[in-house]
Amino acid sequence: MVSVNPWKVKGEVDYNKLVKEFGLTPMKKLPEIFNKNLLFRRKIVFANRDIARILDAVKNKKKFVVMTGLMPTGKLHIGHLLLINQLIFWQKLGAKLYIAVADLEAYNARGQSLEESRKIAIEQYLLNYIALGLSPKNCDFYFQSERSKDAEKSNAYYRLASNFSRYATFNEFKAVYGEISPGKMNASLIQAADMFHPQLPEFEGKPLPVLVPVGIDQDPHLRIARDISQRYKDYKFIQLSSTYHLFSPGLKGDKMSASDSSSYISLTDTPAEIKRKINKYAFSGGGETTEEHRKKGGNPDVDVSFQYLKMFFEEDDLKLAEIEKDYRSGKLLTGELKKILIEKINSFLKVHQGKREKARKMVDKFVYKDVTTSK
Ligand code: TRP
Repeated sequence: MVSVNPWKVKGEVDYNKLVKEFGLTPMKKLPEIFNKNLLFRRKIVFANRDIARILDAVKNKKKFVVMTGLMPTGKLHIGHLLLINQLIFWQKLGAKLYIAVADLEAYNARGQSLEESRKIAIEQYLLNYIALGLSPKNCDFYFQSERSKDAEKSNAYYRLASNFSRYATFNEFKAVYGEISPGKMNASLIQAADMFHPQLPEFEGKPLPVLVPVGIDQDPHLRIARDISQRYKDYKFIQLSSTYHLFSPGLKGDKMSASDSSSYISLTDTPAEIKRKINKYAFSGGGETTEEHRKKGGNPDVDVSFQYLKMFFEEDDLKLAEIEKDYRSGKLLTGELKKILIEKINSFLKVHQGKREKARKMVDKFVYKDVTTSK
């Protein structure tokens, strides 16, 4: 059984089918400025809802928010770069960012303590985000469990989550999520508040366009929130916009699993680990033997090393096209392709890991200090 929802991604993901089933719009041609970012240029961000409103705000230099959340479990791996690289791109385009640490969701839907979530959010996520270029300016980074020091703001956020619940039914939750519990229902409502609260008087002051970039597994949260917002009587929200990016494959060609470190490349891996993992585990689309590969060529579409170059590490379209061609024809061997990737990742991580250490002194600019969970 294939299932794709926020709490379970299982089976082969058929994106075209999901786009139809969820009612998403495939990404059409975007304005030129988006071609600067390989995620848009290469259609790794492949679908959307209501993106026109955001494009309009960009074009007319109107204020807009890009809002997303992170689930603070496990290590940050290269798959997470898909989202953070988009956030940084939007921030540079002029968006105000809201980033929620989903510690209440981790508590209620995954049984993880708030302390643990806080530690992971800072050590794994925030430090890497800062190193990758996230700026504290125009960025509201918060924990679901500690929205704000300012009581008026905090009240408005939790009030919204609570009052939204009146406008959803139990059957709707069941239909959208499949399996549901009170904890998960709560997580869904908090997430709806995450996505809509920037528009409140206490936050950005008035209704404004909000874009939520997510993996497609998060769409159930968006569907519920969108429906609720239409029925909500106390405030006139502008409907959410959202974009959907592909999942990046795990090293072995299937999903990355936080509990299996040989299934992913983490941003804190050493050069030796990178080399070992890629050589040993990276799923190859190449031939069984060198002879066969030379004769029949390889398949870059399923080759994880090639996919990583395409999604993250080879910025240059011409170079990528050449690698693809040579691999398909059999001129480039799997070992050679892996070598290209290993070198790319290691030179990226060398610079990145240095920046990550320096990022420590910036943490206070994002997270206010006197929150209770840090004691
Ligand atoms: N549910 C998201 C996840 O599992 C985290 C999240 C919380 C989120 N609030 C959000 C995502 C708001 C997008 C928008 O990763």
